[in-house]
Amino acid sequence: KTIKFKDLTTEQKRLLKAAEKAMSTAYNPYSKFFVGAALLTRDNKIITGSNVENAAYGSTICAERAAILRANALGKRCFKSIALIAKGEDFNTKEVTAPCGSCRQVLLEFSQISETDLTVIMSTTKKDKIIISSISELLPLNFGPKDIGIDIKHYQK
Ligand code: THU
Repeated sequence: KTIKFKDLTTEQKRLLKAAEKAMSTAYNPYSKFFVGAALLTRDNKIITGSNVENAAYGSTICAERAAILRANALGKRCFKSIALIAKGEDFNTKEVTAPCGSCRQVLLEFSQISETDLTVIMSTTKKDKIIISSISELLPLNFGPKDIGIDIKHYQK
Protein backbone atom coordinates (compact mmCIF):
# COMPACT_ATOMS: atom_id res chain seq x y z
CA LYS A 1 0.00 0.00 0.00
CA THR A 2 1.29 3.47 -0.84
CA ILE A 3 1.45 6.33 1.63
CA LYS A 4 2.18 10.07 1.39
CA PHE A 5 5.24 12.05 2.48
CA LYS A 6 3.23 13.63 5.30
CA ASP A 7 2.59 10.15 6.74
CA LEU A 8 6.32 9.57 7.34
CA THR A 9 7.93 10.06 10.74
CA THR A 10 10.30 13.04 11.15
CA GLU A 11 13.24 10.62 10.92
CA GLN A 12 11.88 8.97 7.74
CA LYS A 13 11.32 12.40 6.16
CA ARG A 14 14.91 13.35 6.96
CA LEU A 15 16.21 10.13 5.42
CA LEU A 16 14.18 10.49 2.22
CA LYS A 17 15.26 14.12 1.82
CA ALA A 18 18.89 13.03 2.18
CA ALA A 19 18.34 10.43 -0.56
CA GLU A 20 16.73 13.08 -2.74
CA LYS A 21 19.75 15.35 -2.35
CA ALA A 22 22.16 12.49 -3.14
CA MET A 23 20.17 11.65 -6.30
CA SER A 24 21.53 14.78 -8.02
CA THR A 25 25.12 13.47 -7.66
CA ALA A 26 24.46 10.41 -9.87
CA TYR A 27 27.13 9.78 -12.51
CA ASN A 28 24.80 8.57 -15.27
CA PRO A 29 25.94 9.48 -18.82
CA TYR A 30 24.40 6.28 -20.24
CA SER A 31 20.96 5.87 -18.67
CA LYS A 32 20.51 9.49 -17.51
CA PHE A 33 18.58 7.89 -14.66
CA PHE A 34 19.24 9.42 -11.24
CA VAL A 35 19.00 7.28 -8.12
CA GLY A 36 19.64 8.44 -4.55
CA ALA A 37 19.88 6.23 -1.48
CA ALA A 38 20.25 7.13 2.18
CA LEU A 39 21.10 4.66 4.94
CA LEU A 40 20.22 5.27 8.57
CA THR A 41 22.89 3.67 10.75
CA ARG A 42 22.17 2.05 14.12
CA ASP A 43 23.73 5.14 15.74
CA ASN A 44 21.39 7.43 13.74
CA LYS A 45 23.89 8.73 11.18
CA ILE A 46 22.81 9.21 7.58
CA ILE A 47 25.10 7.89 4.82
CA THR A 48 24.08 8.54 1.23
CA GLY A 49 24.94 7.09 -2.17
CA SER A 50 24.09 7.58 -5.83
CA ASN A 51 24.48 5.44 -8.94
CA VAL A 52 27.84 5.45 -10.71
CA GLU A 53 27.77 4.19 -14.29
CA ASN A 54 30.54 2.93 -16.53
CA ALA A 55 31.20 2.68 -20.28
CA ALA A 56 31.32 -1.06 -19.62
CA TYR A 57 27.66 -0.99 -18.59
CA GLY A 58 27.87 -4.03 -16.34
CA SER A 59 30.41 -2.27 -14.13
CA THR A 60 27.75 0.21 -13.01
CA ILE A 61 27.18 0.49 -9.27
CA CYS A 62 23.68 1.22 -7.96
CA ALA A 63 22.94 3.95 -5.42
CA GLU A 64 22.05 1.42 -2.71
CA ARG A 65 25.32 -0.47 -2.97
CA ALA A 66 27.26 2.80 -3.31
CA ALA A 67 25.78 3.89 0.05
CA ILE A 68 26.62 0.56 1.69
CA LEU A 69 30.21 0.57 0.41
CA ARG A 70 30.62 4.13 1.62
CA ALA A 71 29.23 3.21 5.06
CA ASN A 72 31.54 0.20 5.30
CA ALA A 73 34.55 2.36 4.47
CA LEU A 74 33.45 4.74 7.21
CA GLY A 75 33.47 1.81 9.64
CA LYS A 76 29.70 1.33 9.82
CA ARG A 77 27.91 -1.96 9.11
CA CYS A 78 24.74 -1.77 11.20
CA PHE A 79 21.71 -0.09 9.68
CA LYS A 80 18.07 0.40 10.58
CA SER A 81 16.67 1.62 7.28
CA ILE A 82 17.36 2.80 3.75
CA ALA A 83 15.43 5.36 1.67
CA LEU A 84 15.37 5.30 -2.13
CA ILE A 85 14.26 7.84 -4.72
CA ALA A 86 14.86 8.22 -8.47
CA LYS A 87 14.13 10.36 -11.52
CA GLY A 88 14.75 10.32 -15.23
CA GLU A 89 16.49 13.16 -17.05
CA ASP A 90 13.16 14.35 -18.46
CA PHE A 91 10.57 12.40 -16.48
CA ASN A 92 9.45 11.85 -12.95
CA THR A 93 8.81 8.30 -11.80
CA LYS A 94 5.11 7.46 -11.56
CA GLU A 95 5.68 4.40 -9.36
CA VAL A 96 8.20 3.93 -6.57
CA THR A 97 11.68 2.73 -7.45
CA ALA A 98 12.49 -0.56 -5.73
CA PRO A 99 16.03 -1.93 -5.28
CA CYS A 100 17.33 -4.32 -7.97
CA GLY A 101 17.94 -7.98 -7.18
CA SER A 102 21.69 -7.56 -6.62
CA CYS A 103 21.11 -4.67 -4.19
CA ARG A 104 18.48 -6.72 -2.32
CA GLN A 105 21.07 -9.47 -1.83
CA VAL A 106 23.66 -7.00 -0.52
CA LEU A 107 21.07 -5.30 1.71
CA LEU A 108 20.17 -8.73 3.12
CA GLU A 109 23.80 -9.36 4.09
CA PHE A 110 23.99 -6.10 6.04
CA SER A 111 20.51 -6.61 7.48
CA GLN A 112 21.78 -9.88 8.92
CA ILE A 113 24.97 -8.27 10.23
CA SER A 114 22.71 -5.66 11.84
CA GLU A 115 20.51 -8.41 13.33
CA THR A 116 17.44 -6.44 12.27
CA ASP A 117 14.96 -6.61 9.40
CA LEU A 118 16.08 -3.55 7.45
CA THR A 119 13.26 -1.12 6.61
CA VAL A 120 13.21 -0.07 2.95
CA ILE A 121 11.50 3.25 2.11
CA MET A 122 10.79 3.63 -1.60
CA SER A 123 9.50 6.82 -3.21
CA THR A 124 8.42 8.34 -6.48
CA THR A 125 10.32 11.42 -7.68
CA LYS A 126 7.69 13.81 -6.34
CA LYS A 127 7.29 11.86 -3.08
CA ASP A 128 3.55 11.53 -3.78
CA LYS A 129 3.66 7.72 -3.56
CA ILE A 130 5.79 6.03 -0.92
CA ILE A 131 5.99 2.35 0.03
CA ILE A 132 7.57 1.17 3.25
CA SER A 133 8.69 -2.44 3.15
CA SER A 134 11.50 -4.53 4.62
CA ILE A 135 14.30 -6.62 3.21
CA SER A 136 12.65 -9.87 4.35
CA GLU A 137 9.54 -8.89 2.40
CA LEU A 138 11.57 -7.85 -0.68
CA LEU A 139 13.77 -10.96 -0.63
CA PRO A 140 11.89 -13.90 0.88
CA LEU A 141 13.30 -17.42 0.95
CA ASN A 142 16.80 -16.03 0.54
CA PHE A 143 20.33 -17.37 0.44
CA GLY A 144 22.58 -15.98 3.16
CA PRO A 145 25.70 -16.48 5.29
CA LYS A 146 24.16 -19.28 7.39
CA ASP A 147 23.53 -21.35 4.27
CA ILE A 148 27.28 -21.71 3.92
CA GLY A 149 27.85 -22.14 7.64
CA ILE A 150 29.11 -18.64 8.30
CA ASP A 151 28.26 -16.55 11.36
CA ILE A 152 28.65 -12.86 10.54
CA LYS A 153 27.74 -11.49 13.99
CA HIS A 154 31.39 -10.83 14.72
CA TYR A 155 31.51 -8.44 11.78
CA GLN A 156 29.20 -5.92 13.46
CA LYS A 157 30.67 -2.42 13.52
N1 THU B 1 19.92 1.87 -10.40
C1 THU B 1 20.15 2.14 -9.07
O1 THU B 1 21.04 2.91 -8.73
N2 THU B 1 19.36 1.52 -8.17
C2 THU B 1 18.27 0.77 -8.45
O2 THU B 1 17.63 0.26 -7.55
C3 THU B 1 17.89 0.56 -9.85
C4 THU B 1 18.95 0.90 -10.86
C5 THU B 1 20.72 2.58 -11.40
C6 THU B 1 21.72 1.77 -12.13
C7 THU B 1 21.87 2.53 -13.42
O3 THU B 1 22.82 3.56 -13.24
C8 THU B 1 20.51 3.18 -13.63
O4 THU B 1 19.84 3.11 -12.38
C9 THU B 1 19.67 2.50 -14.69
O5 THU B 1 19.56 1.15 -14.46
